[in-house]
Amino acid sequence: MALRHGDNLAQRLEWEPSPHAQDKMKRYEKFADEIAELIRSGVLAPGQKVPSVRHASRTYGVSASTVFQAYYLLEDRGLIVARARSGYFVREHARRDLAEPEIARHEAQTTEVDVSELVFSVLSSIKDPDTVPFGSAFPAPELFPLPRLARSMAQAVRDMDPRATVADMTPGSHALRRQIALRYMVNGTPLPVEELVVSNGALEALNLCLQVVTRPGDLVAIEAPAFYATLQVLERLKLKAVEIPVHPREGIDLDVLADSLERLPIRACWFMSNFQNPLGASMSEDKKRALAGLLAKHQVPMIEDDVYAELYFAQQAPKPVKAYDSEGLVMHCSSFSKSLAPGYRVGWVAGGRFHEQIARLKLMTSLSASVPAQAAIADYLQHGGYDRHLRKLRHSLESQQHAMLAAVARHLPDETRVTRPSGGYFLWLELPERIDALRLFQLALAQGISIAPGPIFSATRGFRHCLRLNHGHPWTTRSEKAMETLGRIIQSL
Ligand SMILES: Cc1ncc(COP(=O)(O)O)c(C=O)c1O
Repeated sequence: MALRHGDNLAQRLEWEPSPHAQDKMKRYEKFADEIAELIRSGVLAPGQKVPSVRHASRTYGVSASTVFQAYYLLEDRGLIVARARSGYFVREHARRDLAEPEIARHEAQTTEVDVSELVFSVLSSIKDPDTVPFGSAFPAPELFPLPRLARSMAQAVRDMDPRATVADMTPGSHALRRQIALRYMVNGTPLPVEELVVSNGALEALNLCLQVVTRPGDLVAIEAPAFYATLQVLERLKLKAVEIPVHPREGIDLDVLADSLERLPIRACWFMSNFQNPLGASMSEDKKRALAGLLAKHQVPMIEDDVYAELYFAQQAPKPVKAYDSEGLVMHCSSFSKSLAPGYRVGWVAGGRFHEQIARLKLMTSLSASVPAQAAIADYLQHGGYDRHLRKLRHSLESQQHAMLAAVARHLPDETRVTRPSGGYFLWLELPERIDALRLFQLALAQGISIAPGPIFSATRGFRHCLRLNHGHPWTTRSEKAMETLGRIIQSL
């Protein structure tokens, strides 16, 4: 059975208020988040005046200076603009409304996967640092607290007990796993430290999980479109994909999944419930609960890839499907690669009832994650101000999303459809059907602009007229020009 949390979890974690628990949001930040939520949910529409400082101060019972600070912050985040002598207004992001992509609903089909060559050729061509990185999978390095992390690394290595090399081998550093377990607890999904295995990034954790629950030839339910590494892992392990369509806002189609689980001997599911890559879709809490119920009914394990969970724009962290799994069927995988420390290669899995097998396979394949990297991240989580960094990162990503959406509206054809995720750093675009995204990829690359073409996200090389764009980089004149160039290339096709 899965290891479940006990009543005395805080005690077992030897919990004392750590700096990250104490790192409370300031009052004006909280107030700014409340207004941001009203804008996001459409209560305050583009162009509408936000409450005057005097009115807001009276209505919400905060001081005028708190309201001012909150409005400056919202201005910084690109959500509101000041107009001389008139007050603050919700920013008009686009000159026209951008329609949402339409993902055709279809019955799931079984497919052999053969996409690696295409993925490798696309990935190798977008590595050039001089290329405009719309096709990249990473956010800008300057958004991460790298100097502070380096201090944690130096400190941790100086203080490291030489015996840690053995003691911190798989399942991993206790100090780090304790910090990770604390974050699960604070976010409302408590689980014991003992359930966690530290891995070399999330990708290793995902690989281990899939290997534990499948044999070559098995069927695995995946998303359509899916993160391309998912397709490559299936190909490597000689597994067959059952592609489940994903709604651009609401996530996988549960009816199609339910039908597929009835009809086909599916051995495992691999899904993202928050800020799905590439669509940015997030499932509602009800949907996550229903998905956990389906898994329980069919006793099918699920690998949950949740690497973007910390990058939410709303006020609260979204929960994973793992939070609704009472049977230990969900293996929840994540990492610090997207939120804190790209390149450190520190990830983890909370493996539920498969925990022991995952730990053994990890030992057999790569023995351990890097001990100094684990120690550095544990030190940073304890002393570095992770939550403060995350708030800044989320604000940057959100304002960059607004800038990119506005540029899409300005420069791309009117028929372009685009997602507007509530977290992460990807937009998914559906272009007019006549546009071949692979051809667009080649032509854009020749102009020094990378994009991620739709077919790399599909076992059947579908999504031919779609692409994923990365807004994880500060928006500059160069980005604007690149979007204008993309628009021109698309018009020429
Ligand atoms: C959806 C998704 N899962 C997993 C990963 C890999 O994470 P890591 O770098 O921690 O191995 C990525 C990285 O691009 C990703 O986009």
